[in-house]
Amino acid sequence: MINGTTKIFGIIGDPVEHSLSPPMFNAAFKSLNLDYAYVPFNVKKQDLKFAIAGAKAFDIKGLNVTIPHKRKVLNEIDKFDIMANLIGAVNTIKFHNGKSYGFNTDCVGAVRAIEEVSNLNDKNVVIVGAGGAARAIAFQVAITNVKNLTIINRSEKKAKSLVYDLKTLLSANFKDNSKLDDITIDFSHIDLNFDYGGIDSIPKHLKNADILIDTTPVGMDPNVDAEPIATANEMHSDLIVNDIVYNPINTCLLKEAKLANATIVSGIKMLLYQGAENFKIWTGLEAPIDLMEKTLLNEINK
Ligand code: ATR
Repeated sequence: MINGTTKIFGIIGDPVEHSLSPPMFNAAFKSLNLDYAYVPFNVKKQDLKFAIAGAKAFDIKGLNVTIPHKRKVLNEIDKFDIMANLIGAVNTIKFHNGKSYGFNTDCVGAVRAIEEVSNLNDKNVVIVGAGGAARAIAFQVAITNVKNLTIINRSEKKAKSLVYDLKTLLSANFKDNSKLDDITIDFSHIDLNFDYGGIDSIPKHLKNADILIDTTPVGMDPNVDAEPIATANEMHSDLIVNDIVYNPINTCLLKEAKLANATIVSGIKMLLYQGAENFKIWTGLEAPIDLMEKTLLNEINK
C-alpha cells in the first residue's frame, strides 16, 4: 500500500511500457516488507534533463535508466562510478542528499550471470556484437582474469572503436591489468542475410572458446526463427553460451547450444543480476534473487 512515507523508485526510458523491472522490484520490496514502490516513467529524449531534475525535486530515491537515455544521462548526473565512467553509460541512479550518483550495473550483472555456471579465470571469451550491451559486458569481462576476449561484429567500425576504447581506457584506468594485450578482434561481417554457417570467423573462434556471449538482437521476438549466429555443429559441449535476448527465453541460439550439449545462460540472468546489484545500491540489502527470478519468469510466460 502506498502511503505518505513510501519511498519511490522507478525506471525512465522510451519505450518503457513492457519493462520487467517494475514487477521484479515491487515483488522484491514487498517480500522484505520495505515501504518502497517502483514505477515506470516514459521520458522522451528532449525531456531527460527535466526528468532528472524533477526526480530530485520529487525526492525520488532511485531510478533505472534504459534506452534511449543510458549515455545522455551522464550529462545530468553529479557523480558516477568508475565502470559507468569507462563504459560511458548509466543504468542506475541513486539520489541522496540532493545529489545524483550514477552506476553501471549491466556490466557486473552480465558477468555474475556467467559466474553462476563458471568462473572466468583463463577463459577464452567471444562476444558477438559491439553495441551498448556489448560495451558494458566487454569492459567487465576485460577486467576479470580472462585469457582472451574476442569481439566479433557485423560492422568493422563499431568493433574497432570498442576494442580501441577497451585498450586505451582500461590501460589508463587499470594500469596493473596485464591481460590487456590479450584482447583481440575479428572484423567479420555478420549479417542476417548471410549464411552464418558459411562465415569462417565465428566457427573458427568457437573452436577454442570457453564462453560465447551474443549481444545482438538476432532471435528476439518477433524474429524468433531467425538464423542463429552459430549452429550446434560449430559449438562444443564445454562451451558456455549466453544470449542476452530474453524474449523468448529459449532463443534460436540457445536451442543450438542445447543440441551441442553446451551450458546455457539465458538472457534473463543478466537482467536479474543487474537488478540484484541495483537493489543493493538502493537498499543496502542483499536482493531476494530467487523471488526476483521467479517474478521475471512469470511475467515473460504471461
Ligand atoms: P544494444 O544497445 O542492445 O547493444 P545496439 O547498440 O543497437 O544495441 O547494438 C546491436 C549490435 O548487434 C550491433 O553491434 C549490431 O551490429 P552493427 O554494429 O553492425 O550494427 C549487431 N546486430 C544488430 N542486428 C544484427 C544482425 N541482424 N546480425 C548481426 N549483428 C547484428
